[in-house]
Amino acid sequence: MTDKLIIFDTTLRDGEQSPGASMTRDEKLRIARQLERLKVDVIEAGFAASSNGDFEAVRTIANHIKDSTVCSLARANDRDIARAAEAVAGANRGRIHTFIATSPLHMEKKLRMSPEQVLEQARLAVRFGRNLCGDIEFSAEDGYRSEIDFLARVVEAVIAEGASTINIPDTVGYAIPELYGHFIKTLREKVPNSDKAIWSVHCHNDLGMAVANSLAGVKIGGARQVECTINGLGERAGNCSLEEVVMAVRTRRDYFGLDVGIDTSQIVPASRMVSQTTGFVVQPNKAVVGANAFAHASGIHQDGVLKARDTYEIMRAEDVGWSANKIVLGKLSGRNAFKQRLQELGIELESEAEINAAFTRFKDLADRKSEIFDEDIIALVGDESVTA
Ligand code: KIV
Ligand code: ZN
Repeated sequence: MTDKLIIFDTTLRDGEQSPGASMTRDEKLRIARQLERLKVDVIEAGFAASSNGDFEAVRTIANHIKDSTVCSLARANDRDIARAAEAVAGANRGRIHTFIATSPLHMEKKLRMSPEQVLEQARLAVRFGRNLCGDIEFSAEDGYRSEIDFLARVVEAVIAEGASTINIPDTVGYAIPELYGHFIKTLREKVPNSDKAIWSVHCHNDLGMAVANSLAGVKIGGARQVECTINGLGERAGNCSLEEVVMAVRTRRDYFGLDVGIDTSQIVPASRMVSQTTGFVVQPNKAVVGANAFAHASGIHQDGVLKARDTYEIMRAEDVGWSANKIVLGKLSGRNAFKQRLQELGIELESEAEINAAFTRFKDLADRKSEIFDEDIIALVGDESVTA
């Protein structure tokens, strides 16, 4: 089994399905270029058959992106698949991602098809797609809520038809990490030709477990592709967040033992671009890309970080594209952090007594004001300072 984890970004497709996150062709191209700088392996650029606009967006991205595989989603029918094939035809590496639902609920209530009809449609769709494109991914929509023996038959059939990636989505975010991981593992064991395809996970965040579920799918289930979005953008509560899953695998390489090809220094620029383009604000305490992800406010933490950063930092802010970590001065800050900030501002106080007096004034101010900015400190030390 490969020790590389393939990062499949679907910000431009599943991310765009988030209400209010629709993007123009040019916006999508700009984000696709950033995803290419980030070195994602696969960019799902859209759903070509869904509208002429989306077709154009996928085609434009396919024609401009050179280093990442460019993929279009398609339902499991000839029209969608032909449209997807046409849209990705200009790509260096193109992929068609076809899907059909396999859970009893979706088959009966939504598709109104019998399981045998679904199996046959999946098989024919992959056969048709394989004649148009060398890289076919098959997704069993609502895969996690599917009956496992039936799902295994579907997967075996589509691999036999030439699908090279098999994706088992937790479409509605219902999974629990351990259960999802074991579901993927058991399913793989039930599929006789399972090693002919790369297994993929695609998790939604309805219970806030999309990242944990994806990681369990990798660790327990043996999946080697994760489908994710920048900032976890996506339908309802969103998708598995790219930055979290990538940094988890990187930071805990000791546990996962996998390589990711991502240039992590491009994570924060990608996050900002997606946020600015969609208008979806990133919460300050969001892991990796939130404004506070590398900010230290308590005196004890500040003191520790000033002595050795890894006391309270498991990743470097600079490694994910921040210019530096942040020591936020406020009422919890200690003398050490205050002195350090004076130094950074080029302020030299002549004696320890002066520093102590300035520190007392700083604490008084901090009781009245939640964050103390550099301007506050400059005003606070006033004439006592000798600026370097
Ligand atoms: O969540 C889902 O099931 C999907 C599929 C279309 C892959 O987005
Ligand atoms: Zn999805």
